[in-house]
Amino acid sequence: MGDIVSTSAQDGIAVLTIDNPSVNALSHAMRSALDKALQDAEADSAVDAIVIACSGRTFVAGAEIKEFGTDKAMANPSLPELIAHLETITKPTVAAIHGTALGGGLELSFGCDYRVALASSKVGLPEINLGLIPGAGGTQRMPRLVGPERALDIILSGKPFPVEAAHEDGIIDAVFEDDLIANAVAFIRDKVQAGTTVTRIRDRDDKIAEWKDDPDRFDAVIADKTKKKRGLDAPVAAGRAVKAALTMEIEEGQKFERDQFIALMEGEQSVAQRHIFFAQREAAKVPGVGKDVQARTVRKVGVIGAGTMGGGIAMSLANGGYDVTILEMNREALDKGLDRVSKTYDISVKRGSMTADAKAKRMARLSGTTSYDDLKDCDLIIEAVFEDIGVKEDVFGKLDKIVKDGAILASNTSYLDVDAIAGFTGRPADVLGTHFFSPANVMKLLEIVRGKETSPDVIATALEVGKRAGKIPVVVGVCHGFVGNRMLEARSAEAEDLLLEGASPAQVDKAFRDFGWPMGPYQMSDLAGIDIGWRKRQALGERAEIADTLAEKGDFGQKTGKGYYSYEDGRTPVPRGETQAIIERVAREKSVERRDISDDEIMERTLYPMINEGAKILEEGIATRPSDIDVVWVYGYGFPVGKGGPMHWADRHGLATIVERLEHWGKETAKPVYEVSPLLRRLADEGKSFSDFQKQGA
Ligand code: NAI
Repeated sequence: MGDIVSTSAQDGIAVLTIDNPSVNALSHAMRSALDKALQDAEADSAVDAIVIACSGRTFVAGAEIKEFGTDKAMANPSLPELIAHLETITKPTVAAIHGTALGGGLELSFGCDYRVALASSKVGLPEINLGLIPGAGGTQRMPRLVGPERALDIILSGKPFPVEAAHEDGIIDAVFEDDLIANAVAFIRDKVQAGTTVTRIRDRDDKIAEWKDDPDRFDAVIADKTKKKRGLDAPVAAGRAVKAALTMEIEEGQKFERDQFIALMEGEQSVAQRHIFFAQREAAKVPGVGKDVQARTVRKVGVIGAGTMGGGIAMSLANGGYDVTILEMNREALDKGLDRVSKTYDISVKRGSMTADAKAKRMARLSGTTSYDDLKDCDLIIEAVFEDIGVKEDVFGKLDKIVKDGAILASNTSYLDVDAIAGFTGRPADVLGTHFFSPANVMKLLEIVRGKETSPDVIATALEVGKRAGKIPVVVGVCHGFVGNRMLEARSAEAEDLLLEGASPAQVDKAFRDFGWPMGPYQMSDLAGIDIGWRKRQALGERAEIADTLAEKGDFGQKTGKGYYSYEDGRTPVPRGETQAIIERVAREKSVERRDISDDEIMERTLYPMINEGAKILEEGIATRPSDIDVVWVYGYGFPVGKGGPMHWADRHGLATIVERLEHWGKETAKPVYEVSPLLRRLADEGKSFSDFQKQGA
């Protein structure tokens, strides 16, 4: 192995090259080596200036996450100490960036006099995604560089952004198309020769001066920018830290930032968010689909059905650069679907998140047809027609006859048996489920449903297409509702009885929101439409008395202005006397005694059955690992990311408590959702967690 940092001198310019594969993360060994190399270059009288660069595919892409929580994370030299050292160097310094300069990597570059970058590179402060804030001066130097408002935007977004934008912001001093090191050397030599000096970022004042007289003005900015991050601590801490840059000297501000950082690092939310970060990576590892399995080539995709899901799926694919042909039953339905797609893009253009040009490019990738002949040359076809096995049989039978060999056939079914669907074709190895979530152009989750006979390269292809379409794919097995909807059903099993026994829709919804969900189940029902569940129950010969009474009155929720709640302004739910009257009548008819229901009881009767179902799903091998279930729930159903998903939350909460309460409610209600999963019971008895189960395959 070579040195982590090597120095080469080029005509009076020392080039310090970091080589710490795979992403040049700021491990303790790397920090020490860079610190030493800086010291040597400073002492070497033959050196006039210093370039800090990286070998491999990227500049320093951030902290060494594996060192989080260990002594190494803060061991001398810590990153703030290293940056402070960099700021005492008397010779001009420049960071030469390629790939991605993220988090601690970007903060490191803030210790240099200059930053130059390849045009293809990106920069960003992604700490917020781990429930943290930048902890090495990023919240103090970024405002001094770009002003506090822009700095807070960058920190709250957590997204890497292109270097051209960073150049406009003044974060990057020069952008080069190629030859980064030679250009960086020439850049800094010019500065040396011209005798140019620059004020270090820490000492700059121009971008923050106007805020200093009345820094409390910034409180309104913080409130505005964090209002959609309800319940998360890190965005609030980020706001406070950026404000500290307006009220404190840099040393004091850095100390403030550090204290906030440490509090977050030790908090439950960051533990949960780091769990989800790793869970997402882990989900990409699929048993039987190793790196040796080659994905099939996909250029052209067919989508059948231009309804709610088909339109959104087509948009995601077009966004990923695929040519998409949408097939509908008739011209009218097709035009309606394509029109809705166009209008949805228009909203993005209006909001400024997409240019008109980008919209035009995406629309040009979409075409419509009513003839199966036009799908002949598709490499992948995703079916999103009515949820009816007869309709699916018809569609897959037709597809099987016309598509070329090797084409992949996918169903977006929510509940139906993917193996049965595969059986409608003569090529079951090429069939799988691709279960998108609504709205499909927005929601990140993609459940890839692996059938009994689905071939590994078909799964590999779906994973690749999913990623290109901007999704987070999780591979699951075949069962009613797969992972997500099956657990959702368990969560909903008590929805009616909670109301009959004395809770109100508003109380249940508030308990959910207090837990951190974006909305509660009745608000969700009103938004999705009470008629959807009603129709499904009719088809199955089932009945939910309260919901179906509302549906029979034509009260479908938001779209009719009335559901569990009434919506006088079209959007804001207002508790409804009529709903309460229905609940009380049904309770009387069923002789249910009404009483006060606590928020704890609401959680025990919704969340616990769902976790229990998750354990059953693991036992059956429908999900590969507990953390996959967490990814499904955070990205598909809005489970609060600060709680890390249901299985992670269950671990923190204590499996023994959950088992004890499931048994209690099982005795009270005799409902099958409370039958404790043998796996859950065993882990609880042995004092283990789902995480232990995942690590040891216990
Ligand atoms: P939808 O009713 O909005 O759209 C279905 C479309 O398919 C309609 O435009 C219809 O004209 C068309 N269609 C029906 N039969 C056809 C045929 N034989 N050939 C061509 N086109 C045909 O339904 P939605 O909500 O988009 O659902 C589609 C599928 O996606 C279903 O299997 C559903 O279970 C599933 N799904 C729905 C979700 C949702 O939230 N709506 C979420 C995830 C999956």
